[in-house]
Amino acid sequence: MKQPKILIVGGAGYIGSVLVRQLLKKNYKVGIVDIFRFGGESLLEIYNHPNLDIFKEDIRNTDKIDKIISKYNIIVNLAAIVGDPACNREPDLTRSINVDAAINLYKLSEKNKCKKFIFASTCSNYGKMKNSKLYVSETSDLVPLSLYAQTKVEVEKYLLSQNRNNICHPTCLRFSTAYGIGPKIRFDLTVNEFTKDLAMGKELLVYGEQFWRPYCHIVDIARAVIATIEAPNKITSFAVFNVGSTKENYTKQMIVDEVRKNLPKIKVKYVLQVDDPRDYRVNFDKIKKQLKFKTIKNVPNGIKEIIKLIKSGILSNPDDEKYKN
Ligand SMILES: NC(=O)c1ccc[n+]([C@@H]2O[C@H](COP(=O)([O-])OP(=O)(O)OC[C@H]3O[C@@H](n4cnc5c(N)ncnc54)[C@H](O)[C@@H]3O)[C@@H](O)[C@H]2O)c1
Repeated sequence: MKQPKILIVGGAGYIGSVLVRQLLKKNYKVGIVDIFRFGGESLLEIYNHPNLDIFKEDIRNTDKIDKIISKYNIIVNLAAIVGDPACNREPDLTRSINVDAAINLYKLSEKNKCKKFIFASTCSNYGKMKNSKLYVSETSDLVPLSLYAQTKVEVEKYLLSQNRNNICHPTCLRFSTAYGIGPKIRFDLTVNEFTKDLAMGKELLVYGEQFWRPYCHIVDIARAVIATIEAPNKITSFAVFNVGSTKENYTKQMIVDEVRKNLPKIKVKYVLQVDDPRDYRVNFDKIKKQLKFKTIKNVPNGIKEIIKLIKSGILSNPDDEKYKN
């Protein structure tokens, strides 16, 4: 395929707004479909870029989306109701966007003879690891314990069960929990939230400090999507990849300890929690070996980045609801 045209669905979001910038830097022609649930300000600096087209559209609008997709070769679906609290607040909306519209998007991509369909899934699909001494990998059992994770597993199952002769080859990317500062800020994710609260001098309440999760910077998540776009179909076709680094698994306690290295006087209270549905340490060998993907960021540096932003005073109110999904 000559330089493909790439459509980022959900391209104004936390991850999408970083991914779109990286693609434009690599001279790709890029389209964004987004309903701007959180506004479109994340695109202010690039909206006028000659290689970018922006479509304010709901992915549930089949006719309009069909026409847009017909102009692109590769579709990346990031659009969703994201995170457990947001999904639990609006379960019907969540199912219609995260499952029905996502499946429809793939059908439209196949109908329009797109070459690749990249689906943003999550390591939350692993739920709780059976053996806390081991790491889960792409072949481990999926235990989706929240509505959010259930919707992601459902779409993965649909995509991976499609006819292997289809023109449009699906790939499922299970992202680690994201962190880092970008054009759209989210302070409702563990590393960002803990660091922000502690940098603002608040006392932090930590529930279940012993539970593990992998974390990945938004810059690296975007790089992993591009690695998937650029890899030959024989590697990415009907494949699942965990996105992150095996070294970047942390307990909540470890994140607090990392913040304390920068801010020795922080106040933290631990709340005993014996059971947490999300407790998983993830192995990322597959993406490293098959896509030659290595992260360039890590949590300790991400924490420094967030502390610097909060201390700079650039954000007039870091607690503003607009920074939460
Ligand atoms: N952020 C994380 O930690 C994380 C971890 C694992 C997986 N993911 C997945 O990555 C993707 C992106 O996550 P994010 O953190 O950037 O989320 P986000 O909420 O910042 O971005 C999602 C974007 O999708 C758009 N959108 C929502 N519904 C839409 C609709 N009906 N039509 C058109 N656009 C719509 C929103 O306006 C938003 O801009 C999601 O699919 C999420 O499930 C994220």
